[in-house]
Amino acid sequence: MNSLNSPHLSQHLTRLHQEAEAADAPFVRQIMARIEAAGGAIETLAAQLVADERADYRAAYSGHASHFLSVSPRYGRFLYAVARASKATRIVEFGTSMGISTIYLAAALRDNGGGLLIGSEMEPTKVARAREHIEAAGLSDLVDIRQGNALDTLRDVGGAIDLALIDGAWSLYLPVLKLIEPQLRPGAAILAENAFAEDYLDYIRDPANGYLAMTLPIDESRGNEFAVWTA
Ligand SMILES: C[S@@+](CC[C@H](N)C(=O)[O-])C[C@H]1O[C@@H](n2cnc3c(N)ncnc32)[C@H](O)[C@@H]1O
Repeated sequence: MNSLNSPHLSQHLTRLHQEAEAADAPFVRQIMARIEAAGGAIETLAAQLVADERADYRAAYSGHASHFLSVSPRYGRFLYAVARASKATRIVEFGTSMGISTIYLAAALRDNGGGLLIGSEMEPTKVARAREHIEAAGLSDLVDIRQGNALDTLRDVGGAIDLALIDGAWSLYLPVLKLIEPQLRPGAAILAENAFAEDYLDYIRDPANGYLAMTLPIDESRGNEFAVWTA
């Protein structure tokens, strides 16, 4: 059983990815130009973006209300695969945006026999759109999107976490990880998209902190860091 292959879900995801590409195209062009201006190194621009965000992450995201900023179809399928392989029943997502990654993960919950994905999104218009997209996917019964700052809304997720997707403000990756860490079940998978913040990478790559981490060869320029909670 793989719900991603159902005609309804695969067509829905194709439409959403097309919508995302169109909505984000001007922003992506702007980022590509900035990478070129920085000598072609995404890390240089990423370091600047993390620093800007640290100053005021709310302001950094206020201009992105209409942007999807979503995972790629390939990474979405990887999310689904990890959630299936780990038999996840409780998933936490930092940064829901329009709900594309949420749909891949909730589809895995459905195919695992049920569960709950707790999402977090601070932009109210995105929460509304994500709920519509998840409803249209037929997955609403598996998803609780919490509107507000993840540092508040993910404080209590009601039980042990099998998988976490960290994909919100880059400067908050480490604070959010530390917030949910006490609730990780042994063997929990932590997937971070755009993991460019040095404090996060230093922490998760240090085995003394209880993780086994590696950078994924998927969408390589996007800094996809995968880790397992081994403590
Ligand atoms: C890269 S997008 C998430 C994309 C989504 N995971 C997907 O693949 O479809 C990041 C989102 O995180 C949200 N965000 C940033 N900081 C947040 C915070 N502190 N609490 C909740 N949401 C936050 C932003 O508003 C933005 O929509």
